[in-house]
Amino acid sequence: MSYQRTFAMLKPGVLQRRISGDIISRIDRKGLKILALKMMVIDKPLAERHYAEHQDKPFFTELVSYMTSGPVLAMVLAGEHAVHQLRVLCGPTNPDQAPPGTIRGDFSEIMNRNVIHASDSPESAEREIGLFFTDQEIHEYEDDNDKWIY
Ligand code: TYD
Ligand code: MG
Repeated sequence: MSYQRTFAMLKPGVLQRRISGDIISRIDRKGLKILALKMMVIDKPLAERHYAEHQDKPFFTELVSYMTSGPVLAMVLAGEHAVHQLRVLCGPTNPDQAPPGTIRGDFSEIMNRNVIHASDSPESAEREIGLFFTDQEIHEYEDDNDKWIY
């Protein structure tokens, strides 16, 4: 067993487009467990810290501006290999390469509007969870469904 936590964020535009329920439903159906979920408008310092690894990239300024442009849904998810499982559900960064059936493949057309963020490693996940949530906001709970999923 390799129980992990991961961090997901439904990006600005998802709420406006009324597709948040559809995306959360895919995460739910897969069996990932929601340990925390909140709606927030992130400020520039938080967006810059979250995407610090990209600070020297040409798309960084536009990325930060977009990520602070409207409400997001931030989530802590958990499950077996949750980091990888969520990345698979999302599909590749570029929606051009994302197959139908993936979140990005089904809901987005261009890279800088690719609807969802997902941590890329267990270490990134824990760092990102710490940026967005306090320990008190994260709820571990017993789940009868676990025996049907694992
Ligand atoms: P990245 O961490 O490479 O992708 P992922 O979200 O799959 O982990 O990039 C972070 C975000 O930056 C990406 O989701 C969309 C945006 N982005 C661009 O706008 N242009 C680009 O060329 C790249 C690579 C990313
Ligand atoms: Mg990334």
